[in-house]
Amino acid sequence: MTEVLYDDGPHKFILLGFGESTREEGIPSNQYLVVHGSDGAIFDPGGSGLFPVLSARIANFIDLTRIRGIFLSHQDPDVSAGLNVWMEVTGARVHLSRLWTRFMPHMDLVHPDRLLAVSDPGSTVEVAPGFSLVTVPAHFLHSPGQINVYDPISRILFTGDIGAAERSNGKIYIDDFAEHRPHIEPFHRRYMAGNRALRQWVREVEKHDVEVIAPQHGPLYRGKAREDLLRWLFDLQCGMDLYD
Ligand SMILES: [Fe+2]
Ligand SMILES: [Fe+2]
Repeated sequence: MTEVLYDDGPHKFILLGFGESTREEGIPSNQYLVVHGSDGAIFDPGGSGLFPVLSARIANFIDLTRIRGIFLSHQDPDVSAGLNVWMEVTGARVHLSRLWTRFMPHMDLVHPDRLLAVSDPGSTVEVAPGFSLVTVPAHFLHSPGQINVYDPISRILFTGDIGAAERSNGKIYIDDFAEHRPHIEPFHRRYMAGNRALRQWVREVEKHDVEVIAPQHGPLYRGKAREDLLRWLFDLQCGMDLYD
């Protein structure tokens, strides 16, 4: 399923996959494409098994060789296992935390020189001339080097595993956060490192004008559900807070 989340003509933010194309033993994951003119960027493209279906969907919007940037929220297999094939086919530069650029070449990358380190505070990344995205720090949520990606035109924030649900009811947006919370609570309590990291992240998010929170797994948050998520995470005890 492909869903265009934002479209002003030259600029589009597209939900490229919504969990339906992952093998059953894995956690269903979302993939995203941002198009600006004839250039594009993709977020967390996942394993190589997803390449055929995702590349066919991307081709409905832009030429694959015009993917200029690949953003990886962190180092996990569901984020990066197919990186080699994406790098080969697109020629894109890959942006990920400086903590992981030394480890990714162990996936036998053909072009490790195209891995670019995102600094701890994050920065504005020029994907192509006139096309920029902002990396937002999300350290320890759950990876020690975790980044989010903010698109200032669509005002959509890609949050990786933050807000991630292990399953969904097939709806793209959450209607009722209280009803949704049981699907995200166990994961966040176990995987997120601690409340201090969550509070720091909520403050980072509030520096930007965020309309939609788009995680790597499960449905998206807008309106009241977005505010409910931020408020819930700000007070959540998790990870080391619960480690007795
Ligand atoms: Fe992860
Ligand atoms: Fe994930």
